[in-house]
Amino acid sequence: MLKNKIMLLIKNIKKLVGILPRNKLRLCGEEMSVIETLDNAYIVVNKGLVADFGEMKNCPALNCKTIDASGKMVFPAFCDSHSHIVYAGSREGEFLDKINGLSYEEIAKRGGGILNSAKLLHQTSEQELYNQAVKRLKMVAGFGTGSMEIKSGYGLNTADELKMLRVIRRLKETSDVEIRATFLGAHAFAKEYKNGRENEYVELICAEMLPKIVEENLADFVDVFCDRGFFTVEQTAKILETAKKYGLRGKIHANELDFSGGVQVGVKYNALSVDHLENSGENEIAALKNSDTMPTGLPCCSFFSNLPYAPLKQMINSGLSVAIATDFNPGSTPSGNMKFALSLACIKMRLTPAQAINAATINGAYAMGISQTHGSITVEKVANLLITNKIPSIEYIPYSYTENIIDKIILKGKIL
Ligand code: NIG
Ligand code: FE
Repeated sequence: MLKNKIMLLIKNIKKLVGILPRNKLRLCGEEMSVIETLDNAYIVVNKGLVADFGEMKNCPALNCKTIDASGKMVFPAFCDSHSHIVYAGSREGEFLDKINGLSYEEIAKRGGGILNSAKLLHQTSEQELYNQAVKRLKMVAGFGTGSMEIKSGYGLNTADELKMLRVIRRLKETSDVEIRATFLGAHAFAKEYKNGRENEYVELICAEMLPKIVEENLADFVDVFCDRGFFTVEQTAKILETAKKYGLRGKIHANELDFSGGVQVGVKYNALSVDHLENSGENEIAALKNSDTMPTGLPCCSFFSNLPYAPLKQMINSGLSVAIATDFNPGSTPSGNMKFALSLACIKMRLTPAQAINAATINGAYAMGISQTHGSITVEKVANLLITNKIPSIEYIPYSYTENIIDKIILKGKIL
């Protein structure tokens, strides 16, 4: 009886989308153009995992909760591998500055941007930070996100970075969304470290913050904003070298503002991903070839901040894997809607819908180190599933760029 209670059958599925074999941890180059589907299908979920799927003619007779998905499709939930959803308040004042002509860098130089959020975060209690973040997490789960990487980086001192990471840990423990935590102490230099004391802050990250974070097991990855006006390649290398000693891999903010060398240093230290990439070309593509590093584009950031779009199409055509993520944060991307990221990847980066969906699911899962268990329809993977409304085709999803096409969301086998 108990078994039946936790079982779920979804039947008459018009199209089951995103089927992959267990050992396929990411898709590269031409593989990204293919999305494996099954028409007129069923899927069985048991104990939070995909137990079985197949064609309706082989559907087992089960006495369990059943959803009739006639006319609807089932997809793996989105894997958003880059976000900053733990932050205090909002920064719409800077939105006005941008409308009036200031760039992201100019706002940062005036002490706004990340430092603005750091000030607010310092004044906000851990409980209040959690309350604000949990609302955002519920919102993105409603957009179909089943797993999410979340960064620190608005603390910029030991106590506040730890505060952020503890909030992320609590989100991990309390949410059905699968979460990975990234320590981004190297997001900006607090005022007191600017003008000549920058290396002291890097030293603080390496000698004080990282050991404490490792001791409390608060981070899965380490990030550095390696870019013009932020952290240099040398500083990035030092942080990645120290992280490596603690067994932590990098996920680098690279080449958002310039050809920064961030991609090359990321690949050199076997970073799991290098993200942003708005300023990338042949040299970055050459560095990424034959590496285990996932280039990750953030099309919503380009959209909101009026930046060039990362050349993901060129990367795919060169045989690379690519992922897309939202970058949800209060400055450059105040939005966590993966479906909109899909649409922008198609419209602005010229990815086909199949390429964009693969980038937002299996390759996103790879970019947060969870593609063994997430990111595709695969027996024994976690049952993080989206049931769509009645839609005519897969292509309709990025095409209908503001329409909600989701009927039901299932996370860890539970219907939200
Ligand atoms: O990924 N570029 C660096 N970090 C964030 C923006 C953070 C902020 O402005 O609050 C990003 O775009
Ligand atoms: Fe970011």
